[in-house]
Amino acid sequence: MAQNRTHRIVLAQPAGGPEVLRIEEQALPAPKADEILIRAAACGVNRPDQIERLGFYPAPKGARPGLGLEVAGEVIETGADVSGFAVGDEVCALVSGGGYSDFVIAKAGATLPRPDGLTLEEAAGLPETVFTVWTNVFESGALQPGETFLVHGGTSGIGTTAIQMAKAHGARVIATAGTAEKCALCRDLGADIAINYREEDYEEICREAGGVDVILDMVGGSYVQKNINIMNPGGRLVSIAFLQGSRCELDLMLVMLKRLTLTGSTLRARPDTEKARIAAAVRDHVLPWIEAGKVRTVIDSRFELDDVRSAHERLDGGQHSGKILLIP
Ligand SMILES: NC(=O)c1ccc[n+]([C@@H]2O[C@H](COP(=O)([O-])OP(=O)(O)OC[C@H]3O[C@@H](n4cnc5c(N)ncnc54)[C@H](OP(=O)(O)O)[C@@H]3O)[C@@H](O)[C@H]2O)c1
Repeated sequence: MAQNRTHRIVLAQPAGGPEVLRIEEQALPAPKADEILIRAAACGVNRPDQIERLGFYPAPKGARPGLGLEVAGEVIETGADVSGFAVGDEVCALVSGGGYSDFVIAKAGATLPRPDGLTLEEAAGLPETVFTVWTNVFESGALQPGETFLVHGGTSGIGTTAIQMAKAHGARVIATAGTAEKCALCRDLGADIAINYREEDYEEICREAGGVDVILDMVGGSYVQKNINIMNPGGRLVSIAFLQGSRCELDLMLVMLKRLTLTGSTLRARPDTEKARIAAAVRDHVLPWIEAGKVRTVIDSRFELDDVRSAHERLDGGQHSGKILLIP
């Protein structure tokens, strides 16, 4: 069915600012036996796409060409070994490349049905953040109901999702963000405490709040020691990015005395079998929260696919809250 069909993809060559992004029309390959061809209704824009555009995040081997890690739309073709999805189904999927497109090929194992109650646009903003939060906060971080969870970057795509998933699980949630408006959004999403890190000392506030058990950190740098300082015994610090840098000086004494776990992961490079395992867990545990209205996608803005440069200018500006979407 895909024969003789073309699709638009977005390339960043050479690496640089949003101005390097260009759309290229390419032949659309047929899906392999374990793949699904999706006619995209919307594609999510994520911070890792910016890092790739800047030339610091090469695509893993075997990834489809082009930027973009998530999509939602209608299944228009399935590979020979695919079961559980049929032509006409509405789905969302995590992909390791080529997600900014009108037609996207996804592994069936990393594809989910569009959750009831969400539009396809809302579903397009789910996979990258939900998979990341599930595997880091709930698997590596083993967050338990009643524990205190701290997420930095509370209004990022990841942060808005992490606040809601942790609350749905019964945790107490503290979030940091860079403006009063962003802090208000964190509270609207369920955060018990929101800290404007530009005006307040999050270390002091978390200590006064009784310490934290699990931290999802995307800042790194000077935050790492502060995070360690405020963790309760047995606490888990999960690093998923380093907006302030991946190098820091640490005093490991507290790690030992408080029996802390320092861990982290990246999603994109993980094997398909791992992504399929995470997808199955998301289906079992997170889709019910979404369908019960406890977790939703926060949409910041929508841009035409042809206007992808404006979408990345918005991402680079850092004023956004929640997800930026591309509409093919
Ligand atoms: N490891 C993984 O598997 C994985 C997967 C997906 C994403 N990530 C990472 O997770 C992070 C969030 O991704 P996203 O797509 O959700 O990002 P996003 O929506 O673009 O948000 C990034 C957030 O970082 C905050 N920020 C920026 N610079 C900061 C600084 N120096 N100190 C403190 N906060 C800062 C900004 O909020 P304020 O205005 O409040 O500062 C913004 O909300 C990114 O760094 C991304 O690379 C990792």
